[in-house]
Amino acid sequence: MSEAKAYSLHALELGPMENFVYLIHDHASGRAAVVDPAWEVPRVLELADRLGARITDILLTHSHHDHINGIEAVLERFDAQVHLSKPEARFWGHYLDLPTLHHGGDVIDVGQTPVRMLHTPGHTPGSACYHLDDDLVTGDTLFVFGCGRCDLRGGDPEQMYTTLRDLAGGLPRETVIHPGHNYADHASSTLEEQVQGNPFLHFDRLERFVEYRMRYHDRHRHTPYQPVARGREMP
Ligand SMILES: [Fe+2]
Repeated sequence: MSEAKAYSLHALELGPMENFVYLIHDHASGRAAVVDPAWEVPRVLELADRLGARITDILLTHSHHDHINGIEAVLERFDAQVHLSKPEARFWGHYLDLPTLHHGGDVIDVGQTPVRMLHTPGHTPGSACYHLDDDLVTGDTLFVFGCGRCDLRGGDPEQMYTTLRDLAGGLPRETVIHPGHNYADHASSTLEEQVQGNPFLHFDRLERFVEYRMRYHDRHRHTPYQPVARGREMP
């Protein structure tokens, strides 16, 4: 039996692009952080009310429209601090009134719950994942059996290769990943399951990864993503 966690992590699937919006609720303080507020913000506010939580922080994994279009609506109700990585703020070019800019490794305390920002470039230059206890909120960096596109403005498959290797090699295998979109037939997964079945974690040659990400994948795989056996990524 593991000790009860200091927080609970709630997922809401919202909007036309199967986005996941997360609410991290710190039990001791009643504070909450919402990750990537977008689409139907009333649903997020209702959840916070039901939990008796006060949203004090907004954590952004990156600046794409489908992850941020609810920021203003949250701020209308709560005087929350907005957090994002410094390189993402530069890339976005849109400075909110009082954003708090971070470097990878910074810890954001949501009450008694420390949340560590990891800088995970590849999908965008300042993409971030948020690591707390054995949970990892991955935005559009790592999906269940997939990873974020690298062909949009600011995307870089070489950076994504390094980012994914660092995540897979640097975190315990029992870490539970919580992605930014519901692209598989289950909402979350362990890093162990991803190391086994996520083709993007199978490459040990950069050029092959880039070929797979930029060309092969989109022609041959469709959602909901299924696991791929090692060695079966490309014929
Ligand atoms: Fe995105």
